[in-house]
Amino acid sequence: MILVTGGTGYIGSHTCIELSRAGFEVVVLDSLANSSSDVVGRLEQLTGKPTVFYEGDVRDEALLAKIFAEREVTGVIHFAGLKSLSDSLRDPLAYYSSNVAGTVAVLKAMQVAGCRTFIFSSSATVYGAFQAMPVNEDSVCAPITAYGRTKFHVEQMLSDLQASDPAWGIVSLRYFNPVGAHESGLIGERPLGTPANLVPYLAQVAAGERSALKIYGRDYETRDGTGVRDYVHVVDLAKGHVAALQHLARSRGHLVVNLGTGRGTSVLEMVNAFERASNKKIACEFTDRRSGDVDVCVADVSRARDLLGWSAEHDVDRMCIDAWRWQSMIDA
Ligand code: NAD
Ligand code: WQD
Repeated sequence: MILVTGGTGYIGSHTCIELSRAGFEVVVLDSLANSSSDVVGRLEQLTGKPTVFYEGDVRDEALLAKIFAEREVTGVIHFAGLKSLSDSLRDPLAYYSSNVAGTVAVLKAMQVAGCRTFIFSSSATVYGAFQAMPVNEDSVCAPITAYGRTKFHVEQMLSDLQASDPAWGIVSLRYFNPVGAHESGLIGERPLGTPANLVPYLAQVAAGERSALKIYGRDYETRDGTGVRDYVHVVDLAKGHVAALQHLARSRGHLVVNLGTGRGTSVLEMVNAFERASNKKIACEFTDRRSGDVDVCVADVSRARDLLGWSAEHDVDRMCIDAWRWQSMIDA
C-alpha cells in the first residue's frame, strides 16, 4: 500500500488515480489545509474503489504511527506541504515547519516502521535564477524564496539520510509548471483567493470572474518578450510518480529528476492556447515584471526519459482544454 500525503490536493489527487490504475493500493493522509474532503468521494468515483483516508497533519507523530500500525505501507509519496512563494517570504517559519519538519516526521515514522521507499515533491524553483536553459539536475541550486529553500533543504536531508542507510530508495521529483486537470472534469486545481499562477488566472478571466490577465513584463529576452515556462499536464506528472515508484522497485539511492516537457511556452502563447480551448477572448494588460521571475525556465528531461522511462505526452492545447473543462464544472 502506498501512503500519499497531501493526496486530496491538486497533484496528489491525480497521482492517486494513476496509482490505482497501475494496480497500487492507496492510503491518503491530508489535513485539508488546502483541499476539500469532496475529493475523497471523487477519487472513489474515478477509481471505483474505496479511498482509505486519514484527516490530519503530517507533523502529528501519533497519527503517523497509527497509520503505519494499521496499514501495510510499502512506500510513501509525500506531497503535503505549503506552496506559495509569496506567503513563504511573509511567514517562513510556517513553511519550514510544514515542509521541512513535516518531512522529518514522515521519514522518522517510516524508519520506525521499516519502510524505506520515498518519493518527494520538489520543484524547479530550487534552481533559482541565472541557469543555462534547459536546466539539468546537476546544475548548482540557488533558490531565492523561503519556499524554494525548504524544498532544497529537504533534498539535501534526503541525500544525507540515504548515505546513512543505503536501504533507502528515494526519488526527488522537480516539477516544472504543473497545469491542466483530469479529463473527467471531476478533479483539478482549486486555488483559494486570487490565483498566483498563470493558468488558474486565465481560466477565471475566460469564465468572466476576473476582468483581465495582468502580464508581468513584456521585455524579457524571449521570442515575444513575455516569460517562457515548461508547462506540464498534471496527469503526465502523476504518471511520473508511478514511473518513479517502479524505478524504486528495482533500485536504491537518492535520484533527483526533472519532470517537465522540455518545451517552453510564452505567456502570450499560453493566452492564445487558452482562447482556443475556451473559445473566449481573454483581455490582457501588461504590467511590471513580478519580482523573482526569470526569462525562461525549461527542463532538460533526458534523465526522466533515460532512468524512469517517462516522458510527458500532452501539449499545451490539451492542458488548456482540460483546465477549461474543470473551470466550467466548478462554475456549474
Ligand atoms: P496542494 O496545496 O493542492 O496540495 C497539498 C496538499 O497537502 C493539500 O491537500 C493540503 O491540504 C495538504 N497539506 C498541506 N500541509 C499539510 C500538512 N502539514 N499535513 C497534511 N497535509 C497537508 O498543492 P499541489 O500543487 O498539489 O502541490 C503538491 C506538492 O508539490 C507540494 O509539496 C508542492 O510544494 C509541490 N509542488 C507544486 C507545484 C505546483 O505548481 N503546483 C510545483 C512544484 C512543486
Ligand atoms: C508563469 C508565467 C509569470 C501569473 C511558480 C513557482 C514554481 C512552481 C510553479 C511550486 C510567468 C506569468 C503569471 C499572472 C503572468 N510552484 N504570469 N500573470 O512563476 O513559473 O512558477 O509556480 O513549486 O516553483 O515559481 O508560475 O504560473 O506563476 O507564472 O504574466 O497573473 O506567467 O510572470 O512568466 P512560475 P506562474
